Amino acid sequence: MNEAQIQNFWQNHPCGEAFIGGLEKYGEDYESFFASYDEFRYRKEGHILECLDRIDFRGKRTLEIGLGQGADAEQIIRRGADWFGIDLTRESVERTNLRIGLRKLKAGGVTQGSAVEMPFAAESFDIVFSHGVLHHIPEIKKAAAEIRRIIKPDGELIVMLYAKNSLNYRASIAFLRRLALLGLYLTGYRGSGNTAQHLENARRQGILEYLKMKNFIHRNTDGALNPYSKVYDLKSVAADFPGFEIVRSYKRFMHAPPLPVGRLPFENLLGWHLWVHLKPKASGQS
Ligand SMILES: C[S@@+](CC[C@H](N)C(=O)[O-])C[C@H]1O[C@@H](n2cnc3c(N)ncnc32)[C@H](O)[C@@H]1O
Repeated sequence: MNEAQIQNFWQNHPCGEAFIGGLEKYGEDYESFFASYDEFRYRKEGHILECLDRIDFRGKRTLEIGLGQGADAEQIIRRGADWFGIDLTRESVERTNLRIGLRKLKAGGVTQGSAVEMPFAAESFDIVFSHGVLHHIPEIKKAAAEIRRIIKPDGELIVMLYAKNSLNYRASIAFLRRLALLGLYLTGYRGSGNTAQHLENARRQGILEYLKMKNFIHRNTDGALNPYSKVYDLKSVAADFPGFEIVRSYKRFMHAPPLPVGRLPFENLLGWHLWVHLKPKASGQS
């Protein structure tokens, strides 16, 4: 798996747009597209706004890594940050710039580039924020070291990573979806959409190989074509971010499709989104 394949995937599947029918449905009307996207995003994942509300962005030089449709960028800017953004894809950079222009937001700048090598000066950000991105980077230790380089010694890294100890991973992905796919595969069913793509993946890779969790996980977080995903607990966060110390963490978002769990109350125990706040360790400390 290389970065070019990952870039190609996100360039052709801009994060989350499929949920509202894709940009094409809106023609050149970006304002309607952004309005629909934000309405959908914060209705489905309203906890994001609550989490952002609890972070003091005011006057903080903030870098957001991985921008998608620029929705959180707008929220962070509106909460008073001196905001900068970086994304691997041209598409996401263009959409975020368009949003900033349309909504007349004050932003530091949007850069196309990778978290593994960023064109920013050492110790130049108070906050580095990254929602749903770093678990898609195979060279995560390189990205973590790069974040450690650009963050101020008293700065804060805030990330959302997919949670290993979640209903989605333990019950839905590891058990239900694997069992269902095996059943469909054995009956010769061809299906449509994402299911058809899973069946095609299984035929290409071999069903038993495809169903191994080290392969299956990539294809079960962001669609059956997604090249790379990793799930985290606090132990693996500590291992992948050795230059940082975990300050606090919490889980949000009961989400385990196809299970209808949206209203269950155990999100801090079994939620899919693991938010972690980290602070840089002093140089030389590991
Ligand atoms: C799942 S989307 C998340 C976007 C947004 N933060 C959100 O929550 O909707 C992942 C985004 O990260 C970007 N991305 C993936 N790998 C990256 C990397 N190595 N460096 C910077 N951005 C990356 C993708 O282009 C995509 O826009």
